Amino acid sequence: MSNKEEKFQILAKTLFGLEDVLAKEIEELGGTDIKKLNRAVEYTGDTELLYKSNLYLRTALRILLPIASFKVINQQTLYNGIKEIDWTKYLSVDGSFLIKSFANSIAFNNSTFVALKAKDAIVDQFREKFDKRPSVDKNDPDLQIDVYISENKAIVSLDSSGKPLNQRRYRKSGGEAPLNEVLAAGLILMSAWDKKSNFIDPMCGSGTLLIEAALIATNRPPNLLRTDFSFVNWPSFNKNLWEKIREEAKSNIIEINKKDFKIIGSDINLRSLEITQTNISQAGLSKIISLRHTSFEKFIAPPKSGHIVFNPPYGERLKVKEIESFYAMIGSTLKHKWTDYNAWILTCNLPLLKHIGLKPTTKFKLFNAKLECKFINFTIFEGKKEDLIKN
Ligand SMILES: C[S@@+](CC[C@H](N)C(=O)[O-])C[C@H]1O[C@@H](n2cnc3c(N)ncnc32)[C@H](O)[C@@H]1O
Repeated sequence: MSNKEEKFQILAKTLFGLEDVLAKEIEELGGTDIKKLNRAVEYTGDTELLYKSNLYLRTALRILLPIASFKVINQQTLYNGIKEIDWTKYLSVDGSFLIKSFANSIAFNNSTFVALKAKDAIVDQFREKFDKRPSVDKNDPDLQIDVYISENKAIVSLDSSGKPLNQRRYRKSGGEAPLNEVLAAGLILMSAWDKKSNFIDPMCGSGTLLIEAALIATNRPPNLLRTDFSFVNWPSFNKNLWEKIREEAKSNIIEINKKDFKIIGSDINLRSLEITQTNISQAGLSKIISLRHTSFEKFIAPPKSGHIVFNPPYGERLKVKEIESFYAMIGSTLKHKWTDYNAWILTCNLPLLKHIGLKPTTKFKLFNAKLECKFINFTIFEGKKEDLIKN
């Protein structure tokens, strides 16, 4: 870590279903030995790549640096393994720390207990050396530690991100059911939008898809507004390298002209649009994204083709018949008014999909918070559905 050129293993955590897009992002950023895991991708890189991963990876939730792994069979082996790590390399006796843990094994099924045991081991190591101990800080710790136990193996990592990377700092207010920013970026990358044709979200809510699309199109790193990454508190922090990376990122931002293509959002809810406008300004994207206060039924597709990507309401507040006809309206509006567009819909209400009445071409399984969802691409064509199915 101290030597800029030294290579080590890095682990990027993500949401279920985004492993492929994340692995591609890591490859483009220069990661090697890339291995896809469940909700995570492992790779090799140096300090520069670790910092860049936090700044640039649109579909990563956290970037971890594994520092030790050992066999655990009971509380004592966990305590001993954690205590054997020299924590003075990472944390000062006057500093603060926080442990996040995950346990999936017969010996350990309580994550809180794992975190407590690990905390005891760290505190005891400092007490024995200095007669003093660092404190635990749940809100703004100097060092965030991740303890992961699966079967009889424990992996201890430093969490270089601190707050999860979906907290981009452009969202001042959430509105109704906002998408996680990492999920929104993943949807856009999965939809293979070319970044030079129109991008429309006709039920934009708080504007997450629009903002992530504009960040992608302008080559803005998703976390350029953030300064509170945990690695800036590490004793090994290389300030010059970090400043160089940020300056380079700023100089690579592309100016786009609204005449070339349009990023447009609309919604029937005026309050949502006010929230979206605030979020767009905060992200510095006011010149790129336009908003309209209109219903999907009345929205006239902008000329030339592009992507239309949205997550309609799932129907919690509507009667079954109403939500079924709402999804039928989505299908017929796409079919009659958006013929040149590539349509993608995210929904967690799977039985409703048949009411859209269009043929799905690609489907991805994802989760929006704890709800299982499908992200679906529909072929829009003129004529009857039967004709398409026959072909
Ligand atoms: C699940 S939310 C979208 C959340 C959004 N993706 C975000 O990240 O904040 C669905 C949105 O669809 C809007 N909506 C519902 N019916 C609509 C219609 N007929 N036309 C346009 N917008 C509609 C709602 O006002 C709501 O903001």
